[in-house]
Amino acid sequence: MADSNVAIPDYSKKVIVIDHPMVQHKLTILRNKDTGCKKFRELVKELAIFVGYEATRHFQLEPITVETPICKTTAYTLKGRKVAVVPILRAGLGMVEGLLELIPAARVGHIGIYRDPQTHLPIEYYCKLPDDIDTREVLIVDPMLATGGSATAAIELLKSKGVPSRQIRLLVIIAAPEGIQAVVDADPDVNIYTCAIDEYLNDHAYIVPGLGDAGDRIFGTK
Ligand code: PRP
Ligand code: URA
Repeated sequence: MADSNVAIPDYSKKVIVIDHPMVQHKLTILRNKDTGCKKFRELVKELAIFVGYEATRHFQLEPITVETPICKTTAYTLKGRKVAVVPILRAGLGMVEGLLELIPAARVGHIGIYRDPQTHLPIEYYCKLPDDIDTREVLIVDPMLATGGSATAAIELLKSKGVPSRQIRLLVIIAAPEGIQAVVDADPDVNIYTCAIDEYLNDHAYIVPGLGDAGDRIFGTK
């Protein structure tokens, strides 16, 4: 998978686009307005696994001895890394199950943020994080990075709890250039992983072409 990933030079190496054919195929179905709620949810979960796969590529391994049915050998296991998956409510919840399939021992924190419909500014309404969040590798998950207001607010909140920015990664499914710029401007140390960088934001700050309202499509609220 690594060979087909492209780092987008305009946004520096901090943005990894997961340009894998399976990911792009699933993303196309996700974008389709006729894809129903059940299928949409399944695809968000599957894409979350692919994004998580890339966002954990830097995890370190250590050698252990293992005995196969044939002989003893040296094999590799993850080196004591503590992870927290932190969805931005609501839509981020759709990515949690996929991330937990990949990292079953991860803890889960929740940050509730919604966009004010008029100003599009983020409004924080909930936060519950593991006590030791500052010692964990934090994977923020949210399918959509539009203006970047919600993501930068979540990053600031985590930093205020003592999480260094180098321990924070932002995992999304679709990013707008405006959102990437906002996150990079706010903190160039946070790596962003996305399945696509779309064209622009419309007058309602929705991503074009995007997929519409991710929360509504996951939970069937419209
Ligand atoms: C959506 C999305 C992000 C945010 C992105 O959430 O899930 O959290 O918008 O937009 P931004 O980059 O401009 O902040 P929304 O506010 O619709 O809340 P919801 O998930 O509860 O529907
Ligand atoms: N939130 C969404 O769910 N979709 C967008 O296009 C922008 C913000």
